[in-house]
Amino acid sequence: MQIIAHRGASGDFPENTLLAFEQALLQGADAIELDVFALDGELVVIHDHHLERTTNGSGSIYQYSLAQLQQLDAGLGQPVPLLWQVLVLTQGKCWLNIELKGADTLAPLLALLQRAEQQLQYDCQSLLISSFNHHLLAALKQARPELRLGALTACLPLDYAAFASALDAYSVHCDVSFINQQMVTDAKARGLKVYVYTVDAADDIARLKHYSVDGIFCNYPALSRARLQHAKT
Ligand code: G3P
Ligand code: MG
Repeated sequence: MQIIAHRGASGDFPENTLLAFEQALLQGADAIELDVFALDGELVVIHDHHLERTTNGSGSIYQYSLAQLQQLDAGLGQPVPLLWQVLVLTQGKCWLNIELKGADTLAPLLALLQRAEQQLQYDCQSLLISSFNHHLLAALKQARPELRLGALTACLPLDYAAFASALDAYSVHCDVSFINQQMVTDAKARGLKVYVYTVDAADDIARLKHYSVDGIFCNYPALSRARLQHAKT
């Protein structure tokens, strides 16, 4: 079971910052999950489009220019990073799950991936692009069919993972509050990987190990790894 650092090592460091991503690497995470919005044609790494919870700014990010946003403090003096900076930081060190939050992220993502391939020789097929916005994922699949998609759900659908198959996704990403063995069995029968958010508690880790899920999104990657090793199935 893979350990995916949720917004970086966000339990101990300011979420979605380069510091949290560096710490996730130090804690031995297999992968890093992060959230992106589009601003001035660039992808910025932040979870909420309102700024109060994670920065010293206020209001919507859309009231800011990119230059203004980058002046804000996202915790411990860390700025809101560009996705580009995260690609540079993590290339060759771990795989990335990019969660598209803003509905206008598709064109900036396509441009950024092309730039990363040209300038960094980045292997975009190592990325996993996810969203709760399945229309966005369908459009991305049309534009770049070879990319790996992660279909997010916050519920337990009547037809289980059928929505992820319909998207030709690589994986289904489920809420720990709703996932059950039937969902995992259905997803695996469809050839999908199963990743579960957000999982830090020892009893959840043991239950998901018993279900044989493929990975968990954790706020405390090192602690979750230790709990996983000690969990009985
Ligand atoms: O991608 C998994 C998880 O991050 C989805 O929920 O709200 O933490 O972005 P959220
Ligand atoms: Mg997320």
